[in-house]
Amino acid sequence: MKVEELKHPLIEHKLAILRDKKTGTKEFRELISEIASVLCYEAMKDVKLKKVKITTPIEEMEIGKLEEDNYAFIPILRAGMGMLDGVLGVVPNAKIGHIGMYRDEETYQPVNYFFKVPKGIEKREVFLLDPMLATGGSAIDAIDLLKEKGVKKIKFLCIISAPEGIEAVTKKHPDVKIYTAHIDRELNNNKYICPGLGDAGDRIFGTK
Ligand code: PRP
Ligand code: URA
Repeated sequence: MKVEELKHPLIEHKLAILRDKKTGTKEFRELISEIASVLCYEAMKDVKLKKVKITTPIEEMEIGKLEEDNYAFIPILRAGMGMLDGVLGVVPNAKIGHIGMYRDEETYQPVNYFFKVPKGIEKREVFLLDPMLATGGSAIDAIDLLKEKGVKKIKFLCIISAPEGIEAVTKKHPDVKIYTAHIDRELNNNKYICPGLGDAGDRIFGTK
């Protein structure tokens, strides 16, 4: 399967706090951001660096540097915004786009309400951000929109994922690798991830 799950005791520890319904907005937001940055490191393990010459206080050396401009982060609104600070901490000069999607409460189908991506997006590698991968509908539609714009390299970063969503995304978009902090058990009848963490957008923005 084209999915990589973070397996680290400290990530499990962070997830334990994140999932707890007693955890408040500030801490929830900080944890989403922190885990997003770890996912970003993981998803960029295979990047090609450009060799440059630098001078240390001791001597000259040749070393690899990231061409940050080749990358774009695209959060799926709203909840994906919570991951942006974390990934920008890793690649501060990446371009940023936004895709607005919400799940219809009755049909659970995604509705697209905003789409704005940086110029020349087709030449960049895109990291799509959303803390929750449930049915996979939002991720699939967001990837469709990016591919329509000519994007060829996409990675999907999510904090919690459901097996149903992973299967749906990999079936429709086998070229898109998923990086997730944890694969949960299943979706419930309301298409929420179990055990999950509830509604990520509401917990990040304190809307409920
Ligand atoms: C949540 C989440 C994903 C989507 C996942 O967003 O952030 O975008 O649901 O569900 P899916 O895999 O079944 O499509 P939501 O619709 O709650 O919008 P919000 O981020 O504005 O709260
Ligand atoms: N969206 C969320 O925020 N949480 C879920 O469990 C499923 C979709």
